[in-house]
Amino acid sequence: MKDEKVWLITGASKGLGFALVKLLLKNGYKVTATSRNATDIEKQISEHKENLLALTVDITNEESVKNAIRQPIAKFGRLDVVVNNAGYLILGSLEEITEQEFRQSMEVNVFGIVNVIRAAMPYLRAQGSGHIINISSTAGYIGYGSAGSYHAAKFAVIGLSEALALEAKPFGIKVTVVAPGYFRTNFLDKGSVMVAKNKIAAYNTGQLEEGMKQLDGNQAGDPDKLVAALVKLTDEPNPPVHLLMGPDAYQSVTEKRKAENEEFEAWKHITVSTNFDN
Ligand SMILES: NC(=O)c1ccc[n+]([C@@H]2O[C@H](COP(=O)([O-])OP(=O)(O)OC[C@H]3O[C@@H](n4cnc5c(N)ncnc54)[C@H](OP(=O)(O)O)[C@@H]3O)[C@@H](O)[C@H]2O)c1
Repeated sequence: MKDEKVWLITGASKGLGFALVKLLLKNGYKVTATSRNATDIEKQISEHKENLLALTVDITNEESVKNAIRQPIAKFGRLDVVVNNAGYLILGSLEEITEQEFRQSMEVNVFGIVNVIRAAMPYLRAQGSGHIINISSTAGYIGYGSAGSYHAAKFAVIGLSEALALEAKPFGIKVTVVAPGYFRTNFLDKGSVMVAKNKIAAYNTGQLEEGMKQLDGNQAGDPDKLVAALVKLTDEPNPPVHLLMGPDAYQSVTEKRKAENEEFEAWKHITVSTNFDN
């Protein structure tokens, strides 16, 4: 049955999305790959094209997404794994970032995912099976400075995934939210990372931008290993709801959890003091 599993992946022209498309096609899966420009996917694929449905989709547009979800059902007869992968980073402190820049980040990084989930759920529920994989980030567990809009979006992805996992379980649908550390994709390329237009010198956003440039090409995470792990995950009878990817992700998130617990304990006397006296 493995080769009959049908996948749908957003943001599939490069990075993790494209690595996943290549691996799936090589292994005989049927793949719907969405991009803002489907030809960016098609021109890179020469083998197993019969199993590829490349679609131009605007994930921020509900109609565009609904139409995209109908197509694998029509062509392949089913839909098994949905990977909400498309996303981007915009750097900028909360004072620097404009409302429009913040909203656009939420449109793509959060509402894009919600649109796909809402369009896919009726089919998955009717089928009584499926696996939705949402790509968040360590930035969805830890807020650093100068990227608050990205953190807000990636934290939201974890929250909505936890809710969805509970809602979808009775219908036999699994949900996993993945939090990668740094992986060597196009994510930090010039042109991929956005920076707030309204820079304020007092913030060190430029320094962070420079740091990202230095990191680009030197990230320790191997995208091919991440996507291979994702494919294996879909064969698990009980996959995790939360999955960290990469040693850096494990270290930073577990340290953050520990520091958070220490802070909760240090201030517990106030926390527990707020009930009615009776
Ligand atoms: N690489 C990392 O270190 C890292 C770490 C943590 C989390 N992540 C997350 O992993 C996911 C994949 O990123 P990646 O590392 O593979 O980066 P990537 O190589 O830059 O690919 C990102 C994909 O997202 C789509 N995308 C980017 N901006 C978009 C926009 N404004 N509207 C719609 N789609 C857009 C693009 O799709 P099209 O061009 O095909 O439309 C692109 O294929 C993202 O959600 C990212 O936040 C990455």
